[in-house]
Amino acid sequence: MKFFVDTAEVEQIAELNALGMVDGVTTNPSLIVKSGRDIISVTREICSIVSGPVSAEVTATEAEAMIAEGRKLGEIADNIAVKVPLTWDGLKACKSLRDAGFMVNVTLCFSANQALLAAKAGASFISPFVGRLDDINLDGMALIEDIRIIFDNYGFQTEILAASIRTVNHVLDCARIGADVMTAPPAVIRSLANHPLTDKGLAAFLADIEKTGQKIL
Ligand code: E4P
Repeated sequence: MKFFVDTAEVEQIAELNALGMVDGVTTNPSLIVKSGRDIISVTREICSIVSGPVSAEVTATEAEAMIAEGRKLGEIADNIAVKVPLTWDGLKACKSLRDAGFMVNVTLCFSANQALLAAKAGASFISPFVGRLDDINLDGMALIEDIRIIFDNYGFQTEILAASIRTVNHVLDCARIGADVMTAPPAVIRSLANHPLTDKGLAAFLADIEKTGQKIL
């Protein structure tokens, strides 16, 4: 499963990227605003750090305007995936931008039927939002499972990019189900390393060696 990092914070992206943890990046208008940066310049900087796909989202709502914005975003770098919302206009923009050779990530997906439409429109990625479904007491992970079954049934090449990932258990479930990609905030990716028995075991090992006074260096 590929790891995308869901942020526009350049330093955090660079730190995780240096560890080989970043296969791509996702941003959205809210994350751009949170970074305090201009969308074009921050996206360009992210693309200079990460070689994998970097999603940059349009803000227009009509197809023609989305296509124009998508072309401008797509010209920032070769690894841009233009992000469009899962609306009818977004699907039109997806088809047109894909025909023009751009990668497209269709976002704000909350049903398997929406994912099916995105795949038929040629999306490079479909982004089902797990956490936001869980927020309203629906089963976000069941959506990932449904899309996996449907895409496998018909051999769709669109990659399932599990988004709105909030917990380490979300990451584990995505990997079990076979999501192609999961995108999570840097803190969630870092917390995958945590286990209380690791901390406990390390403390015991260090206490034992300290008693002997032995040093490696
Ligand atoms: C990814 O593409 C989305 O922008 C992101 O995962 C949304 O996450 P949130 O629901 O935690 O805001």
